[in-house]
Amino acid sequence: MNILVTGAGSGIGKATALRLAHRAHVCVADINGDAARQTVDEIRATGASATSFQCDVTQRAAVKELVEKAEAIAPLDGLFNNAGISIRNPVEKISTAEWDLMLNTHARGMFLVAQNTLRNMVKRQQGMIVQTSSDFAVIGVPGMAAYCAAKTAIYSLTKALAVEFGPLGIRVNAIGPGPIDTPILKQNRSDEEYRQTVTINEARSPMGRLGKPEEVAVVVDFLLSERSSYINGQLLQPNGGSVIW
Ligand code: NAI
Repeated sequence: MNILVTGAGSGIGKATALRLAHRAHVCVADINGDAARQTVDEIRATGASATSFQCDVTQRAAVKELVEKAEAIAPLDGLFNNAGISIRNPVEKISTAEWDLMLNTHARGMFLVAQNTLRNMVKRQQGMIVQTSSDFAVIGVPGMAAYCAAKTAIYSLTKALAVEFGPLGIRVNAIGPGPIDTPILKQNRSDEEYRQTVTINEARSPMGRLGKPEEVAVVVDFLLSERSSYINGQLLQPNGGSVIW
């Protein structure tokens, strides 16, 4: 089994790559090549096999090359389409450059990786894809308009792909994690803002805490396996119950 994980140099992608490596060769892709290599080193230290790739998922040619190289190792059975960024800004301060970067990284990036990966999955009439949306796909959050729009796009893309490729034996699902303790929570936040974010999210969660990347990895592992054989086009939300009240 061969599975491609994007954004696998850190956080949720890294935890998932480490988990999937128990049963698959993992193609570890990240815009940060050093981080991807570090994940591969950790996987290999367990005796499992993985290959690192430096790739910016917003770049069409780079994504094509990534998928070709990954397929040269073995046909891709699974894709965890996960690379992402966070930009927090009140609407009046969001620049077009920030808006474009957000939409390009999430919507364009996940579209390009899915499009290239689907080609061979269609030929083989099999495959499983999981895309990282967010609980912000279904709720509005102040200061996160661009991120909310990008993550809703991913949920929508997931449903469209599930309908288009379901008849060809390919399942496509999304995950909508709640607040997970990864470096992304520190992006564009001061230490004080980060601490406030943690406190607010702990208070909002019925479980009183943030999630761990490993608690998301287990969901992705399930969705990229035959154990979820009748789940298609869904948004599964490992969020501790934080958006249900
Ligand atoms: P993270 O910052 O730890 O990991 C994101 C990884 O994506 C990084 O290694 C980064 O280098 C990589 N990346 C960023 N832009 C890229 C690009 N253009 N091409 C290739 N790689 C790129 O963050 P985390 O939390 O692990 O995020 C993973 C996904 O989960 C993201 O899509 C994020 O939006 C989503 N998410 C995270 C939540 C959280 O609370 N941590 C909640 C809901 C969704």
